[in-house]
Amino acid sequence: MDNHYDSGRILCSMCTKPHPLAKKAYQMFFESNLGDSGLFSGSALLEKEVVNQLATLLQNKNAAGFIVSGGTEANLMALLAARNITKNNQPEVVLPESAHFSFTKICSLMNLKPVYARLDNTFKVIPSEVEGCISKNTIAIVGTAGTAELGAVDPIDKLSKIALEHRIFLHVDAAFGGLVIPFLPEPKPIFDFSLEGVKSITVDPHKMGMAAIPAGGILFKDPQMLDSVRTETPYLTDRKQYTFIGTRTGAATASTWAVFRTLGMEGYREIVTECIKNTKMLAEGIKRASLDLLVEPTLNIVAFKGQDTNNLAEKLWERGWFVSYIPRYDCIRIVVMPHVKRKNTAAFLKDLVEIEKL
Ligand SMILES: Cc1ncc(COP(=O)(O)O)c(C=O)c1O
Repeated sequence: MDNHYDSGRILCSMCTKPHPLAKKAYQMFFESNLGDSGLFSGSALLEKEVVNQLATLLQNKNAAGFIVSGGTEANLMALLAARNITKNNQPEVVLPESAHFSFTKICSLMNLKPVYARLDNTFKVIPSEVEGCISKNTIAIVGTAGTAELGAVDPIDKLSKIALEHRIFLHVDAAFGGLVIPFLPEPKPIFDFSLEGVKSITVDPHKMGMAAIPAGGILFKDPQMLDSVRTETPYLTDRKQYTFIGTRTGAATASTWAVFRTLGMEGYREIVTECIKNTKMLAEGIKRASLDLLVEPTLNIVAFKGQDTNNLAEKLWERGWFVSYIPRYDCIRIVVMPHVKRKNTAAFLKDLVEIEKL
């Protein structure tokens, strides 16, 4: 009953068909458990190397972190660290209204009060609104580099300044954008550790990294921050764990390592360039069909609306196009992942125009 990326019809997913070598590496490391890394020191070494590569890509060779189960766990670890470092009994976190729903779970789990900052008309958080949300209980500010719904990139440079001024932990959720933005042509938004205020970044290889699920990534600017999320383990070969998940596969890490090694950063640049080309083609076609883009795409995500957008989304589903409908923006959203080829976008546009004419 599963759908397959190869059909080119899954237009609503932030995951994609893993690279062929991701599958091979996954199989080779099928029994590896990074939860007990002393037994699987080879896998642990691969994790270290992958984290180093991500750290270099995100402009801080010294950053430390882990390959975790996904963006949700990565965001959780960031806020856990921020909370433990700050030590406040009524902790609050300032989030953009567009923050990923994982933060709703995290706030509930950690009893953090979310305080939401408003967005501008390009769906980026307004820095002065963020500043206005800060209180004496704020333990962290979150910015998103590539929102799940629209691919918007918050002004992280401005958030960094605010975070430094108020001495507050700034976490950047680049679960999706972290493996897209570095490969865009200039001028591109700055969102990484080159900004002094950025203390942690989520970046997920199982999204645009083409690694096997589950491969999320969390990086901390300062390796010592990891101490604040450390748990002693009484009976394992390694006497400490940092991730929320205990037993965790080394296979996805090996798959990430293999894809990084095979594609290299130039390979990713080619993939991102192709996705952006297809995104532009799609956006132009949508405009030609007299539908309205919500915003010009920054990343490989297109959102648009028509007269009766929900109905349009249903008609597209009837024709086998898996798009998302987003009620709060009353729009259809398409994520132009590597499995969405030029011929798929062309066929989609043809169907879209036909439905519009009916
Ligand atoms: C910006 C952002 N953050 C966090 C997440 C959560 O990631 P996961 O589903 O891997 O836990 C997503 C997922 O799409 C995302 O787009």
